[in-house]
Amino acid sequence: MTDKRVDDTSPVLAVGVSGTVGRHVGLQLAAAGVRVRTLAQRELLDPATLEAAAQGVDAVLLGWPFPTADGAAEAVGVLARNVGRVVFLSSAAVRAEGEVEVEALLAGSGVRHTVLRAYGFATALQWAEDIRSGAAVQGYGGAAGLNPVDERDIAAVAVRALNEDGHDGARYLLTGPESPTQAEQVRIIGEAAGRPAHWEEIPREAARHRMLTTGRPPAIADGALDFVHARIADPEPATTTVQDLTGTPARSFRAWATDHAALFR
Ligand SMILES: NC(=O)c1ccc[n+]([C@@H]2O[C@H](COP(=O)([O-])OP(=O)(O)OC[C@H]3O[C@@H](n4cnc5c(N)ncnc54)[C@H](OP(=O)(O)O)[C@@H]3O)[C@@H](O)[C@H]2O)c1
Repeated sequence: MTDKRVDDTSPVLAVGVSGTVGRHVGLQLAAAGVRVRTLAQRELLDPATLEAAAQGVDAVLLGWPFPTADGAAEAVGVLARNVGRVVFLSSAAVRAEGEVEVEALLAGSGVRHTVLRAYGFATALQWAEDIRSGAAVQGYGGAAGLNPVDERDIAAVAVRALNEDGHDGARYLLTGPESPTQAEQVRIIGEAAGRPAHWEEIPREAARHRMLTTGRPPAIADGALDFVHARIADPEPATTTVQDLTGTPARSFRAWATDHAALFR
């Protein structure tokens, strides 16, 4: 990695460092001695604030957590005019309109950039309450093979792409080393936490009803359920990108569960 030391280089602008991935990027950049300037994600939508934050910046860690692309053209325009490179945290699975559009805007902007795509993160906190309370984890598609990537591994790749040359134009698909089914993932967490945990399959219609009652638009719910259904016959594949780029194998889901077992007890 290019050695960037405090006070003798431009800072990295990290947007959303309170986030699942962003907090690890911030910690890893700090450990590498890289100067970091932070910006709250909503400030991406305020061009004047973004413009001020981008002054003198070498590289930007960018996420787009918004469902639409509203404001994206302005934000990417500001970044393209002011910064050296952008590393964009994107998705490979159910892709939000905003993420697709930001990727296209970056490609058309001329700014040097790298796209990091993941299917899903290992952060399985949506199951924590049920597992802690001893309840079954109810859901549709327990046999769907999903490939969660550890957020620390995404962060390690992001830090390299922010600091090293050689990643311009790359679209990296980051995965874990295997694709356990959702039911297996619940079992793995239970083993790591030392308490019984199991999946209970519910019909697709019941899962859809739950999604709608928690505010998901019908098209989003149907898209997510179609996606999970397809992964029963066609599990998400594993790539070697994390190891290829960092020299260290991607962490397994079991390793994530072991390191976070306290959250499930
Ligand atoms: N989570 C996944 O499973 C997953 C899978 C594949 C790809 N991705 C992609 O990776 C990116 C990073 O994911 P992540 O899980 O690290 O993000 P996250 O933790 O959900 O959010 C990152 C930051 O965005 C801000 N934020 C979150 N939701 C927001 C909202 N609705 N409106 C405004 N600001 C919001 C917060 O920053 P501030 O408090 O600083 O504003 C937060 O720290 C996502 O944008 C997504 O495109 C996620």
